[in-house]
Amino acid sequence: MIRAAITAVGGFLPENILTNFDLEKMIDTTDEWITTRTGIKERHVENDPQKATSDMAVEAVKNLCKKRGIAPEEIDLLICGTVTPDMVFPSTSNLICAKLGAVNAWGYDVSAACSGFIYSLATGAQFIETGRYKKVVIVGADMMSRIIDYSDRTTCVIFGDGAGAVLLEPSSDDSLGIRDFVLHADGRGMTHLHMKAGGSLRPASEETVANKMHYVYQEGQPVFKHAVVNMAEVSAKIMERNHLTSEDVTWLAAHQANKRIIDATAQRMGIGSEKVMMNIERYGNTTAGTIPLLLWDYEKQLKKGDNLILSAFGGGFTWGSIYIKWAYDGNAI
Ligand code: COA
Repeated sequence: MIRAAITAVGGFLPENILTNFDLEKMIDTTDEWITTRTGIKERHVENDPQKATSDMAVEAVKNLCKKRGIAPEEIDLLICGTVTPDMVFPSTSNLICAKLGAVNAWGYDVSAACSGFIYSLATGAQFIETGRYKKVVIVGADMMSRIIDYSDRTTCVIFGDGAGAVLLEPSSDDSLGIRDFVLHADGRGMTHLHMKAGGSLRPASEETVANKMHYVYQEGQPVFKHAVVNMAEVSAKIMERNHLTSEDVTWLAAHQANKRIIDATAQRMGIGSEKVMMNIERYGNTTAGTIPLLLWDYEKQLKKGDNLILSAFGGGFTWGSIYIKWAYDGNAI
C-alpha cells in the first residue's frame, strides 16, 4: 500500500510573550497557581490587530517548504485545523493558499477544536494513500487570544497563539508513515466547552456582545475529567491495536492542554516522562497548534523508525490518537 509520511515540519509563534507574571497584573491569579494547576509559565500572544490565524499558518508553511526545498506551487492540497478562522468564510485554508502563492492547491478547514490537527492529518493521509496526491500540507493553527475573555481567570491563563504545519508525501518505504488512527466525537460534550454566539443559532447582536458570548465558554472540571479519561483510553487503544508495548513507543506527542492531563495519559500508556514531548510551559494551549508545534520543537531528536503516538482531546468533544512510524532522521528528509 501507499503510506503517507511526514517529510517536513514547520512552526510559527508570534513574537510577543505573555507570562504568568504579566497575568498577575491583569487578573486575580498567581504564577504559582497557574504553574501547579496547568504546567504553563508563558504563552505567545499576537498583539498586531492586522494579523490573523492565516498569517501565522503562512509562516509555518513557508518554514516547511524551505526545509523540504519545495515551492508553494507544488502543494496539491492544504487542510487547516482551526477554531479561530480569519472569518466565517471563505476558509482559512483558502486564505493561506492565496497568501503563499499555492496556486495549484485546493483546501478546506476542519473544525475539531484541540483535535483539529489530528483530524486533519488522518483526513489528509487518505489523499496520499489513494495515490491521488503527492504533496498535502496539514496545518494546525489557532489565535486563541482573539476569542478569550481576559477577565475570566480560569480560562484565559491556559491559552496561547501559534501554528504548526507538516508536509505529507508518499513514503518510499511502506513501513514508514502514518500507520493507524482512532478518532472519536461526542457532541453531547458541547455543553462544557463552546462559543455561545457568532453562528447561525445566535448571530452577532448587541446583546451577544454585551453578554460576552463571542468568547470561549469552558467549564474546566468536566472538560478536565473527560480529557483525562478519553485521551488516556484512546492512546492505550491504539497501542493495543498495533501490538505496541510501552517499550516500543519512542515518543508521545499529546495535546498540550494541561500537564496533569498529559501525565495521566503517559501513566496509562506505561511510558516514562523522558518519552513525553512537552512544551506547554512555553506555549500554553494553542488548540490545533499544539501537536505540530511539538513535532517542530522535537524534530531534531526524531529518528527514522521511531514510533510516535499523537493524542488529542478537545471541544466537541473530539478526541483520538494517530500512530506514526517516523520517516527521517533529524531536521530534513
Ligand atoms: N488563579 C487563581 N485561582 C483560580 C484561577 C486562577 N487563574 N482559576 C480558577 N481559580 C480558583 C477557582 O475560583 C476555584 O476557587 P474556589 O475553590 O475558591 O472556588 C479554585 O481555583 C479551583 O478551581 P477549579 O476550576 O476547580 O480548578 P481546576 O483545578 O479544575 O483547574 C483548569 C482549572 C481550567 C486549569 C482545569 O480544570 C483544566 O485544565 N481543565 C481542562 C481545560 C482544558 O484542557 N481545556 C482545553 C480543551 S482540551
